[in-house]
Amino acid sequence: MAKTVTVKENESGKSWTYPVLSGSAGPDVVDIRKFYADTDMFTYDPGFTSTGSCESKITFIDGDNGILLHRGYPIEELAENCNFEEVAFLMLNGELPNAEQKSKFEHDITYHTMLHEQVRSFYSGFRRDAHPMAVMCGVAGALAAFYHDSLDITNPAHRKISSYRLIAKMPTIAAWAYKYSLGQPFVYPRNDLGYAENFLYMMFATPCEEYKVNPILAKAMDRILILHADHEQNASTSTVRLAGSSGANPFACIAAGIASLWGPAHGGANEAVLTMLKEIGDKSRIPEFIKRAKDKNDSFRLMGFGHRVYKNYDPRARIMSRTCSEVLKELNIKDNPLLDIAMELERIALEDEYFIEKKLYPNVDFYSGIIFQAMGIPVTMFTALFALARTTGWVTQWNEMIEDPQQKIGRPRQLYTGAPKREFVPLKKRK
Ligand code: CMC
Repeated sequence: MAKTVTVKENESGKSWTYPVLSGSAGPDVVDIRKFYADTDMFTYDPGFTSTGSCESKITFIDGDNGILLHRGYPIEELAENCNFEEVAFLMLNGELPNAEQKSKFEHDITYHTMLHEQVRSFYSGFRRDAHPMAVMCGVAGALAAFYHDSLDITNPAHRKISSYRLIAKMPTIAAWAYKYSLGQPFVYPRNDLGYAENFLYMMFATPCEEYKVNPILAKAMDRILILHADHEQNASTSTVRLAGSSGANPFACIAAGIASLWGPAHGGANEAVLTMLKEIGDKSRIPEFIKRAKDKNDSFRLMGFGHRVYKNYDPRARIMSRTCSEVLKELNIKDNPLLDIAMELERIALEDEYFIEKKLYPNVDFYSGIIFQAMGIPVTMFTALFALARTTGWVTQWNEMIEDPQQKIGRPRQLYTGAPKREFVPLKKRK
């Protein structure tokens, strides 16, 4: 017999039965689409802690067991055996590419990395000290003004070219935001370099001398991009889907995703980790900060700890921790005071009753900030890097949503607790 859930209203004694849907993995979901029509009641779930917003075949997370799969493949295996372009192909197409498909995809992405020359002038409109996320949000959204040839979201060819453009151009947009903040000339992309390598090249090369990207750092960057490529229906991805559900163009939707990612509870956490480590300043002050993190009356939280979904170790954090050691070894960084504080903080938090009980483990952002800092990437660029990696996931999720026959404009309802209807008071009579 098909599984159902019956809801009973105790006052009237009425009951309604709802079908339960099973996915290929993960918890079943109760299909409540008819709930309002049947009961004249809404469901209430701020933060969507119990609500599935869509059907998806892209990413699966088992937070209790620390599992993350993209199109069925464990993140550990993808990070170990693939480059970022292969993972992007997998995301977009559902299958890993063969050798021919891989090189064609790499070629196609590479040949869209340049920005329209007029986009350059956008940059000069920003203050030099603008946050790179503000610049990325503005420039990514502005791309819609340049590609009128591909804005018909009902046309699969248009969706494909827009998706490629977004994935290809995001490293250029991010690197130029950094160059602009320094007052250095923009460095144009190079077609002989891989995706991650090209990004590092555009960040650190200047026209004055030859610049060779360190292959170990390029590999580390590639892995970091893979680890951030997608993460199911998180805040920014849900923002992209919600923006796209109205039929908005993909450039506008990705700009919305960037805006959502910027917050410190989401992608902004890697930047917040570094700020926190600097604020702690010395290992001797760690107990004081741990005490604050546990204090209910103090809003301070240990940045880089905890996750809405992972209640076991974040599998991305484990790979990130290894990558962190590789990068520090390659750069011969032995005494890094911030790293020392980070490692000690991790050790203490993992042994502390409060963190154990609440299942607060280091998340992906705890280590990424340390790696970026060692690579010479400024703190304000950390979240920008997250955005460039996540663009692949956003674009894939956006495509899946548009192709979903069940797709409707996203329109949540509310529990209204404001004033009920009341009589209007003319200005003269107001006290
Ligand atoms: N430090 C101290 N206490 C914490 C922390 C933390 N980092 N995170 C959660 N808690 C406590 C929280 O106070 C609450 O305690 P209580 O039950 O006594 O009220 C309990 O743990 C559950 O917290 P919550 O806020 O209800 O959990 P959530 O699922 O809504 O929040 C989170 C998840 C990631 C927003 C949160 O853990 C947090 O703010 N972490 C720090 C920011 C961070 O590192 N964010 C990056 C997330 S990973 C990258 C990404 O995917 O964007």
